[in-house]
Amino acid sequence: MTLQRTVALVALILSVIWYRSGDVIQNSILFKSDFPVGYVAKSSYATDCFPIGNPTDTPEESLKYCEDIAFWDLLDNAGKAEQRLLLASCDPGRRSWNTVMGPLHDPKPHGALWVHVPPERGSSSAPTKAQRITLKNYPEGHDFHPLGLEIYPSYGGNSSNLYVINHARERSVIEQFLLNPSDPTTATYIRTLTSPYFISPNSLTLTSPDSFYVSNDHLFTRRLPILGLFLPIIESILALPLSFVSHIDLSSPSSNDDTILKHTFASLFLPFPNGISLSPSGTQVALAVTSQNKVLFYERDPATNVLTKRTHAVSVPFCPDNVRWTHGTDELIVTGHPHFPSINAVVANTKGAASASWVVSINPNDAGDKLTGRGEFDLDAPVPASSKVSGWSMTTLFQSDGSEGGLMTSSTALKDPKSGVLYVSGLYDERGVVMCRSVE
Ligand SMILES: *[C@@H]1O[C@H](CO)[C@@H](O)[C@H](O)[C@H]1NC(C)=O
Repeated sequence: MTLQRTVALVALILSVIWYRSGDVIQNSILFKSDFPVGYVAKSSYATDCFPIGNPTDTPEESLKYCEDIAFWDLLDNAGKAEQRLLLASCDPGRRSWNTVMGPLHDPKPHGALWVHVPPERGSSSAPTKAQRITLKNYPEGHDFHPLGLEIYPSYGGNSSNLYVINHARERSVIEQFLLNPSDPTTATYIRTLTSPYFISPNSLTLTSPDSFYVSNDHLFTRRLPILGLFLPIIESILALPLSFVSHIDLSSPSSNDDTILKHTFASLFLPFPNGISLSPSGTQVALAVTSQNKVLFYERDPATNVLTKRTHAVSVPFCPDNVRWTHGTDELIVTGHPHFPSINAVVANTKGAASASWVVSINPNDAGDKLTGRGEFDLDAPVPASSKVSGWSMTTLFQSDGSEGGLMTSSTALKDPKSGVLYVSGLYDERGVVMCRSVE
C-alpha cells in the first residue's frame, strides 16, 4: 500500500511536469469544485430523485456500487417501441475486488444484474423498486463481477442477447445470456467468451445481436504480479496511449465453430479508453478517454464496422467514464469523475471520503455547437462546464458533491425521452442508481 502510494505520488508529480495539457491537471487533479449535494437540470433533486434499490435488502444482496446501466427496448415485430426497461450491473463486493482501480482481495461474493421499470411521464405515484435478476444455469464456482453491459432489443417478445463484461478471478471475460420479456428477472446463461484480446475489457456496444465493439481500459493490468501495483497507475496518469478498442464477431452458440469468429482492431494507441457507444443511426461511435478528459467521435461504416475517421475530440470537465446516446435525439450523455484524488480516496476506503458526480449532454452534430473558443455555456449549472473547458458547448444534466444524500462516483447516466426519466449510476455509491423524474 505504501509502495503503491509512493509510486502514485511520484507518477502524479511526473505527470504534472510531463503533461502540458493544463486543463486535465487543473480540473481533475488539483482543484475540487464546489458542487451542491444534488442538482438535476429542469427538475428538483430534493423532490424528484429517488434511489431505485430496496432499502430492506441485505447489504450483500443490495443494489449498490453500480458501474453500468443500459436500456432494454421491447419492440413489436415491426420494430415499433412498446416499452423500455432499465438494466443495471452492480457489485456490492467492489471494495474487495476491483481489477481497474484495486484492490484484488476477495473475488468470491457475486455482483448482480437488476431490472427496473421507469415510471410513466407525469406520474406522481411512488416509483417502483428494481428487481434482482437470477442467473439461470450459471456455472458453479464461476465468479461474477459485472462491469459494462448491453442488450439487444427484443422484437415481438423474442429473447434478447445480453452481454456482460465480467472481471472474474483469473481473467476478464464476457458472459452471454438470454433475457426474455415474459420473465425479465431470469437471465439464462449461454456461454463465456474469452480472448487474448480481452486484456481489460471495460465497456461494450452492440453492432448486431452477435457482434460488438469492446474497449480495453489498460494494457497493463493490476493482475500482473508486482508490476500490477504501479504500471496501471502510471499508464493512467501519464495517459500513455497503449490501449485499444476491438470489434468482435461471434459464432452462433449452436454451431461448432470457435466462439469468436473474427477479431479486428477498431482503434489503436489510446490512453485509458473507457465507455463506448454506437449512435442510434449506426454511423457514429463515441468513446470516452478517461485520462485525457476527452470524448472522441468516430465515423463508422455500418457495412464493415470499420471506424473510418476520427471526426472530433470534445473536452469535458471531468474524467469521463461511460457514454450513452439518447435514442431519438443526437444527444450523447457523458458521465464521469470530476476529481481523481477523491475517487482514489473512496477506493482506498479513507474515512469520510466522497467523490463528486457530473453528467453532461453533448450534441456532436449541431453545427452551432462547433468550436467557439472560451465562450460561456451551461450557465444554469451550479458549476458550469464553461468555467472548466472551452470548445464544444454542453449542458449539465446532473451534479452532486457525493456527500450524504447525494450520489457519489457517477459512472453512467441515461435519459429516456419518452418518460423524461434520467438515471445515474454510482460506482461506489451505497444507493447504486438514482432515478430523477422529469417535470418537463
Ligand atoms: C430476435 O429477433 C431479432 C429480429 O428479428 C433478431 O435480430 C434477433 O437475433 C432475435 N433474437 C434472438 C436471441 O434470436
